[in-house]
Amino acid sequence: MTEPLRPRAIGTSLARLDGRAKVTGTAIYAFEQPLERATYLHPVQATIARGRVTAVDTATAEALDGVVAVLTHVNAPRLASTDDAELAVLQSDEVAFRGQFVGAVIADTPEVARHAASLMGVSYDEQPYDVQLRADRDDLYAPEVVNPSFPTDTDDGDVDAALESAALTVDQTYSTAMQHNNPMEPHTTVAIWNDDGLTLYDSTQGVHAVRTTVAPVFGLDPERVRVIAPHVGGGFGSKGMPHAHVVLAGLAAQVTSGRPVKLALTRQQMFSLVGYRTPTIQRVRLGADSDGHLAAIAHDVVEQTSKIKEFAEQTAVSTRTMYASPNRRTSHRLAALDVPVPSWMRAPGECPGMFGPEVAMDELAVACGIDPIELRVRNEPATDPESGLPYSSRNLVGCLREGARRFGWDRRDPTPAARRDGGWLVGTGVASSTYPAYRQPGSVANIRSGPDGRFTVRIGAADIGTGTWTTLTQIAADALDVPVEAVDLQIGDSALPMATVAGGSSGISNWGSTIVGVARAFRDKYGPDPADGSETEGETPDNPASERFAMHAFGAQFAEVRVHADTGEIRVPRQLGVFAVGRIINPRTARSQFIGGMTMGLSMALHEHSVMDPSSGHVVNHDFAEYHIATNADVGDIDAVWLDEHDPHLNPMGSKGIGEIGIVGAAAAIANAAYHATGTRVRDLPITADRFLP
Ligand code: MOS
Repeated sequence: MTEPLRPRAIGTSLARLDGRAKVTGTAIYAFEQPLERATYLHPVQATIARGRVTAVDTATAEALDGVVAVLTHVNAPRLASTDDAELAVLQSDEVAFRGQFVGAVIADTPEVARHAASLMGVSYDEQPYDVQLRADRDDLYAPEVVNPSFPTDTDDGDVDAALESAALTVDQTYSTAMQHNNPMEPHTTVAIWNDDGLTLYDSTQGVHAVRTTVAPVFGLDPERVRVIAPHVGGGFGSKGMPHAHVVLAGLAAQVTSGRPVKLALTRQQMFSLVGYRTPTIQRVRLGADSDGHLAAIAHDVVEQTSKIKEFAEQTAVSTRTMYASPNRRTSHRLAALDVPVPSWMRAPGECPGMFGPEVAMDELAVACGIDPIELRVRNEPATDPESGLPYSSRNLVGCLREGARRFGWDRRDPTPAARRDGGWLVGTGVASSTYPAYRQPGSVANIRSGPDGRFTVRIGAADIGTGTWTTLTQIAADALDVPVEAVDLQIGDSALPMATVAGGSSGISNWGSTIVGVARAFRDKYGPDPADGSETEGETPDNPASERFAMHAFGAQFAEVRVHADTGEIRVPRQLGVFAVGRIINPRTARSQFIGGMTMGLSMALHEHSVMDPSSGHVVNHDFAEYHIATNADVGDIDAVWLDEHDPHLNPMGSKGIGEIGIVGAAAAIANAAYHATGTRVRDLPITADRFLP
């Protein structure tokens, strides 16, 4: 047990400390950094899916007034390392996917750069390519591990025998669509190269992650790379690691004689350059006795990666811990295609990976004639089925029951297609949600006392729009036992002490634990009344409990769906999420994370679908006119609540991460509600009107 913090500021809905700066436009984002003599970069992208660049006509672009430089693979500065093929920008004539950088223009204005880029004539030797994910491909392979380091396959007991002898079985294939991250702020990098090294104003989830990744690419000592990101307009994983545009900006800054280079990707460019959620094809098999007790679970996933760099989404991992079953099997197989590199998108693994199984559980509930909540309760494990460890806290059942009470589940007639309201068929659905309580070592915090009882708390953490400026201040205040007004927090700069990335919903756990540890050491050393200038620095303390417990957050997602009987139009008037995530640091910012995740889940259920054209290797709907994202008009009555969960094993705050769990299970709840409304089972996302038409 880690010694718990006495919550005073923690648990209050402190308004965002950066809120005023944001709404008045004085919070400076990367591209807005005021810099003298800035130049602007516009990339040139490959228009073939695979092959070689045979020639680039740069003369017209170079002759344009205001053009500072034109880069191609022929003249771009050489990188020190090309080990990471995604980051090996303009180092060869090879094209590995459509949209890859093949050139760039640097100019005095963004308009001139863009116009000049459009004048670059690129000739190609085009080669055959393959961009189609199918489960029946003969070249699927098993990766060594799945993201970030889970075993690829697991096999416990005898799944085949258990399925054979089960009273009831479900054997279905589900699919989730390719999706692209679209944070409000596009990916932006401002690069300055001078005698001090490389400075980047970057829209990133981790300043130190960028520094650590980019420094060896340029052959620089990490101390000579500085990354600054005080405000970030969303990331969802796509800014968790630097992508090729960061390197392109750095290369460009080497040829501008010290002038800063500003690069903001356009929406359309983001669809090939900043990662995406792989499409998944999931075969789920469940075997159960007539009372719904699971005897077997098998979850076999096929998904894609790129030929130049592997990313293996951990889609089946949550199945390993979700329900009790003596026989369990999971597997992941990849197709390596001539496509951009997939990457993290809010709850990689859990988000797509809870869709198939949670719809399958609904199908099993129908097959058994058991209420879907009761079915889940009957399969609640006493300990983590995978590790055998006890859970530090597991309140899935509590979430399901509280949600049922709030949602009015007891009034539900289980018969599908039984409720009609005018022309609309009405149904309700439920699904479980889960997300691991990750914690990584490796953050460092520095605390220094100032005059008048003030404290400066320094850590290179990131606020990607989630509220870190506010919540870390609350934690620091409680850790030092001072009011929040006495804390000056500094984050978002690699010149500050090292911090882990804002990813895996682990930011607050990692940075908060570190700050609490350092604050305790500070108080032990200097007492309640430290002299001005007293200072302590230290690393994230170990948490031995993480060896003894399985640590996961849980939740229950509820949805009401209306499907128009004549047109198939689908609406979601109601969504409720109930979560058990330990202690909530700030109810206001937490609720915003939950309903944001649930809205993204609604978006996944009904809209988001990157359409890969097999005849061009191009995501054809690469803008907001064609790639639909849920808006206010799509969201009905949405609410998120949480149980009062006390878990002393997690960290001194008693908190689990909350950035990602809100999306997990939301699409399954909507798909299950759509079945209940119509009697039509949709197993492929997104759920569109045509599925309900005869
Ligand atoms: Mo999140 S996809 O781990 O940034």
